[in-house]
Amino acid sequence: MKAVKIISAVLIIILIILQFFPKRLPENLPLGPSDLISGESVPGEVVEILRNSCFDCHSNQVHYPWYSYVVPTAWLVGKDVREGRGELNFSEWGDYSLRNLIGRLDAIKEEVSSGAMPLPAYIFMHPKAKLDEEQVSIIVKWTDDYIEKILE
Ligand code: HEC
Repeated sequence: MKAVKIISAVLIIILIILQFFPKRLPENLPLGPSDLISGESVPGEVVEILRNSCFDCHSNQVHYPWYSYVVPTAWLVGKDVREGRGELNFSEWGDYSLRNLIGRLDAIKEEVSSGAMPLPAYIFMHPKAKLDEEQVSIIVKWTDDYIEKILE
């Protein structure tokens, strides 16, 4: 049909024009001394889970897949990373005060056990990021032990 062809052509042209707009993807930084991973001894299995399921929004080491460079997807991904880093950035872990750490550990426990994190849209694109029961209990135990250690 002619109308379908015209609409498709217009959409493609819009998509092409959009690519000239800034992608607004937050930049990555190399691992620094404040990174959770480099700072202190975090159990390897915890690091693996966080890296696999959380770091793409809550660290300065985001793995951007190819589609995240295409506007308007780039804007959605960029917003998640900006907001995610604002709430909790594992790359700034060493800079948080003890009081802040406790608050964030509590929030991590809450988000993970309720299944609110990782975000559903992220799981849709990264099915392996979904936490199973065992992974949830590993994270919960880690947050409990950590808070206990801080309060000691
Ligand atoms: C796709 C990006 C994305 C991923 C992956 C992700 N988050 Fe988030 N997270 C966000 C965004 C955006 C917010 C802020 C908005 C909100 O609370 O929904 C947030 C908020 C949070 C908060 C603060 C909640 C509050 O209200 O105090 C915690 C804690 C958190 N995330 C933990 C995690 C953990 C742990 C993982 C991995 C298991 C994870 N997130 C994976 C994007 C993400």
